[in-house]
Amino acid sequence: MILSRSRASRKAAPAPAGGDGQRLVPRHVAIIMDGNGRWAKARHLPRLAGHRAGAEAVRRTLRAASKLGIECVTLYAFSSENWKRPEQEVADLTGLMKQFLRAELDELHAGNIRLRIIGDHRAFEPEAAAMLDAAMEKTAGNDGSTLVVALNYGSQDELARAMRALGEQVKAGMLDPAQITPETIAAQLDTADLPPLDLLVRTSGEVRLSNFLLWQAAYAELYFTDTLWPDFDEAALAAAVEAYARRERRYGGL
Ligand code: IPE
Ligand code: IPE
Ligand code: MG
Repeated sequence: MILSRSRASRKAAPAPAGGDGQRLVPRHVAIIMDGNGRWAKARHLPRLAGHRAGAEAVRRTLRAASKLGIECVTLYAFSSENWKRPEQEVADLTGLMKQFLRAELDELHAGNIRLRIIGDHRAFEPEAAAMLDAAMEKTAGNDGSTLVVALNYGSQDELARAMRALGEQVKAGMLDPAQITPETIAAQLDTADLPPLDLLVRTSGEVRLSNFLLWQAAYAELYFTDTLWPDFDEAALAAAVEAYARRERRYGGL
């Protein structure tokens, strides 16, 4: 099982810290899985080998997240800017995604995990898009935990789509612009029904968000590690969660 609720255990939570009533284990963790190319380069391997090793890190990380009792994991797998990469690399990444679904979907489903996509996955080749649709449909009724995959996702694109939807409602006379609040905007985002983002992790030493969850990260705790994504494992996730548990979240208050 990859992310099964039944195996979720609070016992794995790190030592207490933070403010009163603050959860030690984040409900929602998002990860910018970066560094596959550099991992391969350091080994004189093609970039594809790095992406393959990255897919193994995804499997490990989902199992580790399940053990920790994390309710929702969002993985940045392909950004709306990643189309700038060579056609062959895009094809390799699409192929790996299909391979991952073929190998893991039954296990995800058996583990009561719901698969969600954020971003517009219809831009991928038709077979890949159809496999993703089928996987979401198959797991839609699962209520154990949620695996969210960001595919052809860009935060600015997501916000632009949300603003267009609100604009259409205004135009149709269904919405008064004075009623637009942070809540109405959040309700239009791809993440509308997900738990609030608690912890945002980026691997590979880059210290930027690269157009990922800009709105949702408003009060998320940020964690950057030099570990390259293919080397990420249970201990690396535990270190991120331990760092989170030591943070004091104040949300602007005292
Ligand atoms: C992350 O690794 C995977 C994707 C963006 C799809 P990279 O491919 O960006 O690896 P680096 O940054 O070149 O090392
Ligand atoms: C961010 O990584 C996107 C994903 C991990 C899918 P990039 O490698 O594309 O980010 P930049 O180009 O270094 O900002
Ligand atoms: Mg990168």
